Amino acid sequence: MALSPQFLDELKHRFTLSDVVGRKVKLIRRGREHTGLCPFHNEKTPSFTVNDQKGFYHCFGCGQHGSVIDFVMNTEGLTFPETIEQLAGQVGMDVPKPSREAVEREKARASLSEVMEAVTSWYEAQLYGQVGKGAFEYIKGRGLNDKTLKDFRLGFAPNSRSALKDAMQGRGIYEDQLIETGMLIKPEDGRDSYDRFRDRLMFPISDRQGRIIAFGGRALSKDAKAKYLNSPETVLFHKGATLYNWANARAASYDVGQVMVVEGYMDVIALAQAGINYAVAPLGTALTEEQIAHLWQMGDEPILSFDGDNAGRRAAMRAMDRALPMLRPGKSLRFVFMPDGDDPDTLVQREGKGAIERKIDEAEPLVNMLWRELNEGIVTDTPERRAGFEKKVFGRLSEIQDENVKKLYQSEFRNRIWQQFKSKRQSNNAAYQRRTGAYGKPMPFSHSTGLLGKTALGKGTGTGPVTDRLQQLLVLAVLNHPEILVSYEEAFATLDLSLADLGKIQSAILEFMTENDTLEETKLTHYLVDRGIGGAKDRLLANKSLKDDWFAWPDAALGDAITGFEHTLKRFHHITDCWAAYRQAETEYASDMTEENHARFVAAQQAYRELEEKEADKDGYRLESGRLSYN
Ligand code: UTP
Ligand code: MN
Repeated sequence: MALSPQFLDELKHRFTLSDVVGRKVKLIRRGREHTGLCPFHNEKTPSFTVNDQKGFYHCFGCGQHGSVIDFVMNTEGLTFPETIEQLAGQVGMDVPKPSREAVEREKARASLSEVMEAVTSWYEAQLYGQVGKGAFEYIKGRGLNDKTLKDFRLGFAPNSRSALKDAMQGRGIYEDQLIETGMLIKPEDGRDSYDRFRDRLMFPISDRQGRIIAFGGRALSKDAKAKYLNSPETVLFHKGATLYNWANARAASYDVGQVMVVEGYMDVIALAQAGINYAVAPLGTALTEEQIAHLWQMGDEPILSFDGDNAGRRAAMRAMDRALPMLRPGKSLRFVFMPDGDDPDTLVQREGKGAIERKIDEAEPLVNMLWRELNEGIVTDTPERRAGFEKKVFGRLSEIQDENVKKLYQSEFRNRIWQQFKSKRQSNNAAYQRRTGAYGKPMPFSHSTGLLGKTALGKGTGTGPVTDRLQQLLVLAVLNHPEILVSYEEAFATLDLSLADLGKIQSAILEFMTENDTLEETKLTHYLVDRGIGGAKDRLLANKSLKDDWFAWPDAALGDAITGFEHTLKRFHHITDCWAAYRQAETEYASDMTEENHARFVAAQQAYRELEEKEADKDGYRLESGRLSYN
């Protein structure tokens, strides 16, 4: 029933909508609108409104919306023609009888996808006919066999402005349908429409269900402006929401649990011919979010394949950028790069299916791609640069929407940053020598004359009990939050720990770090137990006097643990520096007993004693207290 828009408008205007609606719904006038209880869903307070000026109703509760025609149709259960008959009858309008032409046209108007089907068959026929001889030879020359050509329904668009148009019109398909499906181009200036694809090898593009919705056309002539031309966006075809070979690959990937994304149509086809039938391609654009979502319905970790050149790398980075915020538990991407000069098509034709499968096995997880991208052109030779790098890394990770995935990425990257600096230090830092050797602690003041004896300051070269608690806290914090070492490995490695248990733990942690690529707390714990250091750790954990410094315990957030560690480290260094100055003054006085050296010695001693007292107060114990001795 083809009715003109003019007629329908005229009909609608003959009615005041609120009158018609008012026969079924009790309406109350509110300004320009009427409101009432919605007839389309159950409600107690009115959310149904009628606007007579605009001639439509709308329900804010259920979303129903329409004109007088819709209202009558929906509330009286009539068909569209019946509704028109009834309304026209009420106002004495004649419903125009459809013209013979319109009836014909209606009959001839196949659905648009039927049009695409007809176009596809015709292109196919051309490929196998005289006009397609060159195209046929070309594609055979590219190694595709007859079965593959038929499976993918390859075709040929002749070099003519109207061959398709004429052929389709001869089958009762209308010009506007061909324009609507993008097969004809209609110039704006009113000139005649003409075939969009000319002298091209045609690749039909189908939707999820396998219905043909668009084409990609590969130029056969070297002079063509674009190597590939694709259908424009149409009612059937949305580039960014479609994948080439989607329907076939969907079935195949269901069986193998794997889906691969390649760049080109020819790649998809060559892979399928070689037995890899779970490959798809985007349609001449970078991968969209929608496509990624579709891919994740086909497999947990789609393999994205790119050329090995710079353009390929860039395309991979773009795909990664797109996917990063979308990562969720179990869902990621993996990347493969073709050897230089190859694409999947050339590789599989030269070396066979196995070559591709090997590539897939070695595919690089997204996490590695991201790490590589973040490191590109990065120099981290100064603290500022390193801090800048860390900022960049964690800024990037904050894009990940899923909290759990984000947390695990942060932890993984903390580890990697730490690894990176570790290996740098290993090559050029003496601290590394120290801790890989016999693990001796630095003893800068080893030739003490013993002037001070052991009375006030306790054991050996250490600073005495005053720093015991600080040392314990530092080690405890690292045991519970090994990630502190990402930033403080160096500081930790060079800590001068005077307590035997602590020294053992420290050595073991540092050995663990050189032997393992992780800072996982549980792995570290196992390691310590295996080394027989479990007892030392347990004694530390059982030390009640450390309980109040919550930063060092497992419940503290990592950020707080790091801050607490930093502060404790500062206090520790301050005291040991002061102690060192004291011992230095002592040494000098012992070797040269002048008045001046004596004065310096007394001053240094005084400074240290004051600090010692202050620290003791701060920590809530007295030097005399029995809690001083560790263990
Ligand atoms: P390629 O240039 O890699 O082509 O483009 P290909 O698929 O390997 O084709 P052959 O082997 O040269 O015949 C990869 C994809 O990029 C899109 C197409 O989807 C193509 O399959 N493309 C390429 C375009 O949309 N337009 C172009 O001009 C070029
Ligand atoms: Mn190619």
